[in-house]
Amino acid sequence: MKTNNIKGTGEAINRVDGRLKVTGQATYAGEFSVKNKVYAQGVNSTIAKGKITSIDVTEALAQPGVIEVITYQNALKLKGHEKDLPAIDNTTPMAVLQSPDVHYYGEYVALVVAETIEQAQYACRLVKIEYAKEEALTDFAAAKSTAIKPAAPEDYFRGDVEKGLAEADETLEVTYVTPIEHHHPMELHTAIATWMGDEVEIYASQQMIDNSVKTIANTFDIPEKNIRVISPFIGGGFGSKLQTHRHVTLAVMAAKMTGRPVHVTVTRTQMFTNTTMRQRNEQKMRLGATKDGKLTALAHETLSHTSTYEQYQEPCGTVSKMLYATPNNEVKHRLMPLNLQTPFAMRAPGEAPGSFALESAMDEMAWKLGMDPIEFRIKNDTQTDPSNGKPFSSRLLNECLRIGADKMGWENRPKTPRSRREGSWLVGYGVSAASRASPYQESAAKVILRAKGGEVHATVQTDATDIGTGTYSILAQTAAEYLQIPIERITVELGDSRFPVTPGSGGSWGAASFSMGVKVACDNVLKELKEKVGMSEDAQANVAQLLLDNNLATFEATGTATPDEGRAGYSVFSFGANFTEVWVNEHTGMFRIKRMVNVSSAGKILNPKTAYGQILGGLTMGAGMVIAEQTKVEPNFGNFITRSFADYHVPVNLDMANVEVIFLPEEDKIANAMGIKGVGELGITGVASAIANAIFNATGKRFRDLPITPEKMV
Ligand code: MOS
Repeated sequence: MKTNNIKGTGEAINRVDGRLKVTGQATYAGEFSVKNKVYAQGVNSTIAKGKITSIDVTEALAQPGVIEVITYQNALKLKGHEKDLPAIDNTTPMAVLQSPDVHYYGEYVALVVAETIEQAQYACRLVKIEYAKEEALTDFAAAKSTAIKPAAPEDYFRGDVEKGLAEADETLEVTYVTPIEHHHPMELHTAIATWMGDEVEIYASQQMIDNSVKTIANTFDIPEKNIRVISPFIGGGFGSKLQTHRHVTLAVMAAKMTGRPVHVTVTRTQMFTNTTMRQRNEQKMRLGATKDGKLTALAHETLSHTSTYEQYQEPCGTVSKMLYATPNNEVKHRLMPLNLQTPFAMRAPGEAPGSFALESAMDEMAWKLGMDPIEFRIKNDTQTDPSNGKPFSSRLLNECLRIGADKMGWENRPKTPRSRREGSWLVGYGVSAASRASPYQESAAKVILRAKGGEVHATVQTDATDIGTGTYSILAQTAAEYLQIPIERITVELGDSRFPVTPGSGGSWGAASFSMGVKVACDNVLKELKEKVGMSEDAQANVAQLLLDNNLATFEATGTATPDEGRAGYSVFSFGANFTEVWVNEHTGMFRIKRMVNVSSAGKILNPKTAYGQILGGLTMGAGMVIAEQTKVEPNFGNFITRSFADYHVPVNLDMANVEVIFLPEEDKIANAMGIKGVGELGITGVASAIANAIFNATGKRFRDLPITPEKMV
């Protein structure tokens, strides 16, 4: 029965949902037509700290089409947060409009519900709110004395850093700064909520369906079984859609209060204040090394900020615990509560900014030692994770570095800064290492077989999501392979809380977890079908043939993949290396990324085409960190002055010339039975330092404060 159009894993097929997307037939959360639907628009606070003293909704309510104005005075009472700045997660309740207190500029203070979006938006301007303003703390520098030890991660110590620094031939102490950055997926955050008796159905753009259900259950104190969340297509997430933000709470609340389905969209400007962000980080690095390039000490201390009502600490330093062998290591994080919203995970939380610091510091130290930065890294390689003594399941970092060097023509790089010129451009090469944990979590799926006209078709259902990453494609490939049914006869259905539970898309665990869940469901279909027809378990058989031979119209099975116990004995990470060639214009301070080579070692690549898209997207986002991305706070009002794509700049195609991505052939069977690791967050990791290091190689100047905009350069 094996046909040549199975298109199993490993094949670079086009996206199976590509046609639906480009023809506008893929339905995103905000596009579902729901009968009797009304629109709601959030009103944002215009102070950064204080209390609402009066609200006048008379004029807003009197406008045509306006149905309701919800404020803390009439809102449904919701389960609040626990006190004492709790560390937040993906199911933390998202209470809103519960008190007159304002914690940051842009916080929701009211919601207007109207027949049309225009009516709602117009009436928002007529809601009159007065405040008793208090002095807000939004300035990072001024807040330093308020820094606290976060609930997590713990401070980490190995050996004695001071002793290691004293023994070193060369030392380095430098601080790297990364600004507030925003995720800004193309698709705005949105939710449509409909109550039917005690049950609520929500179309929402969410990365993690099961966690969305839990969040809503926690927020409204209702049973999970009464909540259905649907999110079949998602126009990007990058971590901003991990949590179920307060616009979802508002939609569910307003639908309850008005008895109508309510559609809330977060505008692009509101996405700066009402979704989430990566916070500003200051990372102090201290390194010591011997003359021959052995690290004697590595200390990484991160200062970040959180909100005044919740605690989130990005683990920037964790990469410094595991990437290089050094006997003396110290990793600390400190957190300042500011009158800004709570930050949360953004693509490669920890590694993206953390690697900028570590991999820039490694470059600085290599230069001090007069060593090739690749050789310096290889000299400090380790096949055992120094933070826990466990062997890496596989670590091909040196191979990534060497193969990338070869592709890049690294031996031809300018050996000293300012030594190569093309007209008024200074040319430089840079390198960085990349590592990102490859988690794998319990994940379930269902497979339904149906006989149709002598052919067998299969439908795969899981609550997994496709945030643009290619989940539909890799799961169709997985099912095709393990069912031995041609991919054209496979239908994948995702993003519905009625489907079997997965961890959702996040943390680079999606591909491994979902695919394993589908594989187990496919294995179970065959096993259970054999049982049903009285065939021995060891007999060779094909599900489609069995179904047809036994005249069965349909058959289904579910499966749950669970991480092997053996995996816990290893550290499981994906690795990579980034190379860049950068041209810096001496007169204007503009720089151009002329070439990028990325070599990734990420286990079995399920679909080289979509995996390439993941790495390319990561490289682009990493380039954005250096070229332009930053959210600026206005010190007097405490609001963000970057409020649209006109002032929050992201890289475009022209910024990304000549990108080459190479995947090392690898299957990591310790990671999981299919040998899969993650690629989604690996691609952004280390990229910023590879560019900054190239800028040093070109100009002789170190820029430790991102982004590296022209006015800093000249
Ligand atoms: Mo990711 S930052 O877990 O979407």
